[in-house]
Amino acid sequence: MSKCLLDISAVDMRFPTPRGEFEALRDVNLKIREGEFVSLIGHSGCGKSTVLNLVGGLLQASAGGIILDGREVREPGPERAVVFQNHSLLPWLSVRENVALAVRQVFRRRKSRAEMREWVDHHLALVHMSDAADKRPDEISGGMKQRVGVARALAMQPRVLLMDEPFGALDALTRAHLQDTLMEIQRDLNNTVIMITHDVDEAVLLSDRIVMMTNGPSATVGEVLEIDLPRPRDRLELAGDTHYTRLRREVLRFLYEKQRKVEAMPAASGRAEAGASAGATDQRRAVGSDL
Ligand SMILES: Nc1ncnc2c1ncn2[C@@H]1O[C@H](COP(=O)(O)OP(=O)(O)OP(=O)(O)O)[C@@H](O)[C@H]1O
Ligand SMILES: [Mg+2]
Repeated sequence: MSKCLLDISAVDMRFPTPRGEFEALRDVNLKIREGEFVSLIGHSGCGKSTVLNLVGGLLQASAGGIILDGREVREPGPERAVVFQNHSLLPWLSVRENVALAVRQVFRRRKSRAEMREWVDHHLALVHMSDAADKRPDEISGGMKQRVGVARALAMQPRVLLMDEPFGALDALTRAHLQDTLMEIQRDLNNTVIMITHDVDEAVLLSDRIVMMTNGPSATVGEVLEIDLPRPRDRLELAGDTHYTRLRREVLRFLYEKQRKVEAMPAASGRAEAGASAGATDQRRAVGSDL
């Protein structure tokens, strides 16, 4: 078995708010092996992005710590690429320049200018964004921005790929294409991936393990489900596979029986209504697709 690459140990996260401290996470523990694909799933507002931002070095834990390959994570680094939930493209740069900026940061000393340009164009083609390469972020749709974010992260060939709902705004065909592309890239490069998703099918298709988080505040890891389906995985074959069906039912059961959202988040979260209604939408989407 490959070694433990990432060790999230006894992590608490408290945010200062005008009404006092808000404890988003309490005692989160998770060890992730090199090359493992882990999905984080849980209701809106439970703390998934907070976990990802901690691993990305964008937030500092209030207690506990995160060790990546023997070193404590204290800041962002190019070995950890992030696909952000809100895209986070630089508005004054074109699509191509947004990806190129990240590529230069990583490959400046290893690739020539022409090679870097080719590398950027290859990744824009992978996400079907070649035609819009010269547009600026405000000239493209949300789904297109999301694809640029994915291209930017993949082009960095990161050791750890952190993805916050990377395919959420995409149509079904584009989504399936990108999921397949991601599985191929991950198999070839053995990147370690943490992906947040609200899509139960996506989580089961892509993951080695699904980490299911309890509802906040003071959220933590609830259950961890091993996805022991053989690879490579084929979405059409899996659709009729009884083990696949059982695994996805386990996730649905956790979300909609054990962690059902019965009340809105406390006001201190600042996300009370948005969180509850987004959770309800996820619930309808996931349960609807199961029937
Ligand atoms: N900077 C902050 N200050 C105060 N509270 C915060 C801050 N960031 C996050 N929170 C709170 O921490 C909790 C977890 O937020 P987080 O964004 O991690 O949730 P999430 O699981 O990613 O939700 P979603 O699925 O809607 O993206 C929420 O209640 C949120 O309101
Ligand atoms: Mg989030």
